[in-house]
Amino acid sequence: MLEITGLGHAYGAHRVLEGIDLEVGEGELVTIVGPSGCGKSTLLRCLAGLMAPGEGKVVLNGTPVTGVPDDLAVVFQDYSRSLMPWLTVRDNVALPLRRRGLGRSERRAGAAEALASVGLGDAAGKYPWQLSGGMQQRVSIARALAYRPSLLLMDEPFGSVDAQTREDLEDLVLRVHRSEGVTILLVTHDIDESVYLGDRVVVLARDPGRIRAELPVTLPAGRDQIGTRSDPEFVRLRAEVGRLVRGVAADLSEAASR
Ligand SMILES: Nc1ncnc2c1ncn2[C@@H]1O[C@H](COP(=O)(O)OP(=O)(O)OP(=O)(O)O)[C@@H](O)[C@H]1O
Ligand SMILES: [Mg+2]
Repeated sequence: MLEITGLGHAYGAHRVLEGIDLEVGEGELVTIVGPSGCGKSTLLRCLAGLMAPGEGKVVLNGTPVTGVPDDLAVVFQDYSRSLMPWLTVRDNVALPLRRRGLGRSERRAGAAEALASVGLGDAAGKYPWQLSGGMQQRVSIARALAYRPSLLLMDEPFGSVDAQTREDLEDLVLRVHRSEGVTILLVTHDIDESVYLGDRVVVLARDPGRIRAELPVTLPAGRDQIGTRSDPEFVRLRAEVGRLVRGVAADLSEAASR
């Protein structure tokens, strides 16, 4: 469903991404893990049609991405800038549904359902600035889910929530993925999370950002926080991804000592 070919980008003289080739199949949940600054957000912005990459192309459902595709939702890393402060939580979540051609009552019902699914049913009438950072990020997740996109891009979506909420939201993403069949590309710098959530883990190296490895995750689909994380296969995979990510760090210190 998503084909990325030879994607590269530089900001001025600073080369951020190089030679990214990646395919994501319909219904897959692919996680991308890599160190800070390796170009993860830049990559997602190119996929979402928010910026044009310097090189390469992105094709979604057979159509080259030139602007923001209709069937796509993004959960941004920076929650504090992604919600409209003058709209209530309910209206923030309902707003994109206009693009779906839904009537007012359907938009409100969709927003209520999505807010309930992230545990914020009671906050619908509040304004974003009346909520904590983690709650605001849950609102932006609810907004993306309410839209029912065929492709959901998530950029470190759980960075600002506490550990318990993080696990709950990870499981929410897995539930939505299973029940709605939505294709998800999720960026994280958390190695355990990349393995716990992914059908496949893509490890990025930095300077410039490029794909270092792709690992299929051969864990059973019905995952749970305690059972899965103690599964020997999970333990093996997280060590493998950890080694690859540390390899990235080793490259960096090598580069620094040259
Ligand atoms: N609009 C921009 N103009 C110039 N440089 C940029 C811009 N956006 C990002 N960069 C630079 O490109 C590099 C990659 O940034 P990007 O935000 O894509 O990384 P990231 O992997 O998402 O990092 P993090 O894990 O910290 O979110 C960084 O060095 C950053 O400073
Ligand atoms: Mg980022």
